[in-house]
Amino acid sequence: MKDLLNDLQLYAGVMRRVGYTLTLGMASSNRRSNLLSLYHLYPKNDQSKDQTPIDPYIIPKTDVFELFGSDDAVYEGVYECGFGHTTEFELKVISNLVKKANPKRVFEIGTFQGRTTLNMALNSSEQTEIITLDLPASELNTTHMEIEDGEVRYVEKDISGERFIGHPASYKIKQVFGDSATFNFETYKQTIDLAFIDGSHAYKYVINDSEKVLKMMRPGGLIIWHDYTNWDGVRAAMNELYRKDERFKNLKHIGGTSILILHL
Ligand SMILES: C[S@@+](CC[C@H](N)C(=O)[O-])C[C@H]1O[C@@H](n2cnc3c(N)ncnc32)[C@H](O)[C@@H]1O
Repeated sequence: MKDLLNDLQLYAGVMRRVGYTLTLGMASSNRRSNLLSLYHLYPKNDQSKDQTPIDPYIIPKTDVFELFGSDDAVYEGVYECGFGHTTEFELKVISNLVKKANPKRVFEIGTFQGRTTLNMALNSSEQTEIITLDLPASELNTTHMEIEDGEVRYVEKDISGERFIGHPASYKIKQVFGDSATFNFETYKQTIDLAFIDGSHAYKYVINDSEKVLKMMRPGGLIIWHDYTNWDGVRAAMNELYRKDERFKNLKHIGGTSILILHL
């Protein structure tokens, strides 16, 4: 009986959301992108009978073996991951990418607890500067564009960057705060060697962040995106950039991860 009541409550919640998405929600690009994903998941004719299902992840894959051949990075808190973090394997991949690139200046959008920030610091040179941007919790309801409902929990936190605050490697890390849609990136124009984009996962934010980061990059730099396979907004935005924008034609999806990379 309890299970049935739970199911009914869940069903009522789903119906409320569907109702909203099909009416007022149509004004939201995130809701429209969710609908499109459903369309691809359940195509008009049951294609599963006679056709190969559509693969929504169109960006070509590479893998860590192709990229590195070995793993010589160092890690901290690699197995302490949960919601909102990179997985253990992704953290290792990013750490190795940082070690290999040996960047002088790194820019991260989306600090959260600072687990990836710390590991980027551990795998870079003593002179490396890592700038990490986070949305202050106090600005949750005043962002320039709409963020996803599901990411509110990463914004609402008492401390941003708790994993590196007080750590010996924290001298390399500079924390900056603001909304990536309105933050002044001009100071960093063409000075960044490696960027990690992991802020809001809403379609418009991913497009905004990709554009802003591109302008900060030095020639020969490396951009890393997280969550290509986890968030509809990231997938839709990155597929669109890959398909329509020449500057993103060399994007690669690292197999076994949700990471995309672009060597400039
Ligand atoms: C998934 S977490 C980042 C995880 C972190 N990069 C890591 O690897 O552990 C997303 C972060 O992006 C921040 N964020 C969300 N919207 C943002 C915005 N518009 N501008 C800047 N940061 C944003 C959130 O506050 C949160 O800290």
